[in-house]
Amino acid sequence: MGQKPWDGRFSQSTDKMVERFTSSIDIDKVLYNCDIDGSIAHLKMMANQSIITQNEADTLLKGLEQVRKKIESKDFEYSDALEDIHMHIEKALGDEVGEVAKKLHTGRSRNDQVALDVRIYLKRETEAIMNALFSLQRVLVQTAQKYIDVVMPGYTHLQRAQPVLFSHHLMAYYEMFKRDCERFEDSIKRTDVMPLGSAALAGTTYPLDRELTRKLLGFSKVSDNSMDSVSDRDFVMEFISCASIAMIHFSRLSEELVLWSSSEFAFITISDAFTTGSSIMPQKKNPDVAELVRGKTGRVVGNLMAILTIMKSLPLAYNRDMQEDKEPLFDTVNTLKACIDIYSKMIPNIEINQNNMLNAAQKGYLNATDLADYLVVKGLPFREAHSVSGRAVAFAISGGAEGGQSKELHELSIDELKQFSDLIDGDIFDFISIEKMLSRRVTHGSTSYANVQKAVEVASKRLNLK
Ligand code: ARG
Repeated sequence: MGQKPWDGRFSQSTDKMVERFTSSIDIDKVLYNCDIDGSIAHLKMMANQSIITQNEADTLLKGLEQVRKKIESKDFEYSDALEDIHMHIEKALGDEVGEVAKKLHTGRSRNDQVALDVRIYLKRETEAIMNALFSLQRVLVQTAQKYIDVVMPGYTHLQRAQPVLFSHHLMAYYEMFKRDCERFEDSIKRTDVMPLGSAALAGTTYPLDRELTRKLLGFSKVSDNSMDSVSDRDFVMEFISCASIAMIHFSRLSEELVLWSSSEFAFITISDAFTTGSSIMPQKKNPDVAELVRGKTGRVVGNLMAILTIMKSLPLAYNRDMQEDKEPLFDTVNTLKACIDIYSKMIPNIEINQNNMLNAAQKGYLNATDLADYLVVKGLPFREAHSVSGRAVAFAISGGAEGGQSKELHELSIDELKQFSDLIDGDIFDFISIEKMLSRRVTHGSTSYANVQKAVEVASKRLNLK
């Protein structure tokens, strides 16, 4: 073999700047295990089909394991001249076993080889991410169980709206991450397709047994169109889409953790081990982990834009543009994994300031809807009841009969309340207490104690926590 596998047709050697520019080894060396595993299956299949002899296959298989060891022991030299991990491994195999290494690439192109490697990689990583998301769900459910009856204000428009259980709020994130897992699980169906045997684009003239290669590599099916096989990166786009949605969920949780840990909210205290200080302001304790997770959402969504734009308008079949798929893909995998892992560790290290949450739920007219509901129970149509309650709120804001400092609805006297409707009786105070407000919200999915406890139990069972 000359310097380059395509030497035969070329009379000039590649410009060094071009070598540097076209090389992807810094990025795709991560794929070495996937590449070697793919080659092993290819060799076994070729020996089985008598395309190479069993002896040749044995030599090459042993050689590939040697190469794997060398890469793992860091006793391996990378060079731009060899472009990518595929050519590095083939060259290293030649150094191990000599001439016979030239048979490895029979019936194969780097186009179907790289498609295979990325699919092997992504199947493994998607499984790992799903496992990590499973652990995170366990942490969320355990935390919800721990603080099952802590009350907090629920918000809409970031304005206090109605009281909810903190556990209910946490379980909302459990639902999001559960759906993320389902999305990843579904995406594996499209990743789990074996492209090898498609060769450059048109398939191959060798009698490859693609079904055997599939079995050896543990894929669910063999791809059906050679041109599609080498040019399809839908599975990468789909994975990064799923990851982007998961990161959006992380960014929402992060935003809440940042807000809640501020002195304005003071709902939570993140432990020292998961916060950092300021180099100038001695009093500062910053929620950097949450901020960084929120910031990293930008990276992943950026990666989604990158892969979509790389693939846009590419004619069939393989184009070198597609080499650019790996950086956004690997970065997405690494970023998402890091975010899942750090949150799984950080969440149990958050202290919940229950009194502050409860106090906040008691101020801001969070029982105004329930005053309206009370009137509805007594026979007033909801729209009228809403207006009565609204007038009572305005009256309370201006301090009730005496004026001055504003009061809450439950701080008004029964006579003050009665002027808005004579349907209001002394039982109103119990009716609009937080306890009662929560315990009335019993339709499926609502925030009553009993409901949330049930939701936590169902989730615990699903996550093998019980
Ligand atoms: N490094 C290339 C990539 O990742 C491998 C495929 C190269 N194929 C080619 N025809 N130059 O896309």
